[in-house]
Amino acid sequence: MLFAEAPAHVPADRIVDFDIFNPPGVEQDYFAAWEALATPDGPGIVWTRANGGHWIATRGALVRDLWADNRRLSSEVLAVTPGLGDVMRFIPLQQDPPEHQSYRNAVMKGFASRHIVAMEPKVRAVARELIAGLAPRGGCEFMADFAEILPLHIFLTLIDVPLEDRPRLRALGAQLTRPDGTMTVEQLRDAADDYLAPYIAQRMAHPGDDLFSRILAEPVAGRPWTLDEARRMCRNLLFGGLDTVVAAVGMAALHLARHADDQAALRADPALIPDAADELMRRYPTVSVSRNVVEDMAVDGVALKRGDIVYLPGILHNLDAASFDAPHEVRFDRRLNAARHTTMGAGAHRCVGAGLARMEMIVFLEEWLADIPPFRLDAAAPVRMKGGNVGACTHLPLRWD
Ligand code: HEM
Repeated sequence: MLFAEAPAHVPADRIVDFDIFNPPGVEQDYFAAWEALATPDGPGIVWTRANGGHWIATRGALVRDLWADNRRLSSEVLAVTPGLGDVMRFIPLQQDPPEHQSYRNAVMKGFASRHIVAMEPKVRAVARELIAGLAPRGGCEFMADFAEILPLHIFLTLIDVPLEDRPRLRALGAQLTRPDGTMTVEQLRDAADDYLAPYIAQRMAHPGDDLFSRILAEPVAGRPWTLDEARRMCRNLLFGGLDTVVAAVGMAALHLARHADDQAALRADPALIPDAADELMRRYPTVSVSRNVVEDMAVDGVALKRGDIVYLPGILHNLDAASFDAPHEVRFDRRLNAARHTTMGAGAHRCVGAGLARMEMIVFLEEWLADIPPFRLDAAAPVRMKGGNVGACTHLPLRWD
């Protein structure tokens, strides 16, 4: 790792060498690796010289406030991963207000809660089918055998494409969630676009009742979507709704495998599951975002200059004791207002798929606990994790009797 020299406006006592893609110890524990950066008496924001140099907010309230500051911080460039933003040009993720609003409104209509409710039986059928294949095996590598497949199948169901497409999108999904370095970002984008192109064209010409049709039927800025905009939006949904769900479902399974008491509580009273889903999502945040400073600002006693990049790790908000009481404890009766934690973001870009993701998590927990007997970590094989903009388990071996 090459370390860039810090610019003159960064005080020396704020400089660290922290690689967000590979923090020390991340393979064993993604959360501990990040929390090592945030000491209770330490600064609220630091500058890392890794990955070209950027700020990282480390205090919970600051992470949240900066995330919601869509005026002084821009989403346009998807900063820390060089070139990614130019290649993807996601809509609405890379748009700033006010342009962002009209596109986001259209996407939000596609995810309206009545549609989420209507999708639930299909999501349940997909989950049941996958679980039925695993239950007799006495164990599985949860990430590859379940977590990485579920959201992919759900996505196909949402956009109403034939299930025969599964293997093709599966290969693409594997590159999205577990890139092996054989594809560049451009190739990945092109593969996604090639896959989506016929469906986008068809839905624009003959709208159906699927997610793409519903969104593309909504005008943007008072006119129909252009083909280029439609591609960028559909790409955003594909890339936004796979590895995030993979990571979240993996963390929920990891927690339950480690906590037989919580498993037992949910089996005994499945009515607890919706609150448990919210609490597990809070306790195990996996998404971090970057922003570009577009207006000089003073934060935590330091100057952030136009052009600086700021990295915002949800983990350091949700696991900050000043933000949540006993944040490391999973308490199913926390009665969270889900919008208070940053697992799904904050401000203008808060996840449009939050309702769908929550439903997927609830259905997963209900179906998994109904069909799989009490399960535990496989003592013979270690859990492995990875860092990055979406942190996740890469290996989660489970056993059951
Ligand atoms: C547990 C699963 C998920 C997590 C943790 C998650 C997390 C997030 C976060 C943190 C953001 C804010 C990004 C930012 O501020 O720059 C976001 C935005 C977004 N998410 Fe999700 N997401 C999940 C599931 C989904 C799903 C299932 C979809 C769609 C199929 C989706 C589509 C999007 C889109 C389109 C945006 C951009 C919204 C905007 O810019 O206005 N996400 N998500």
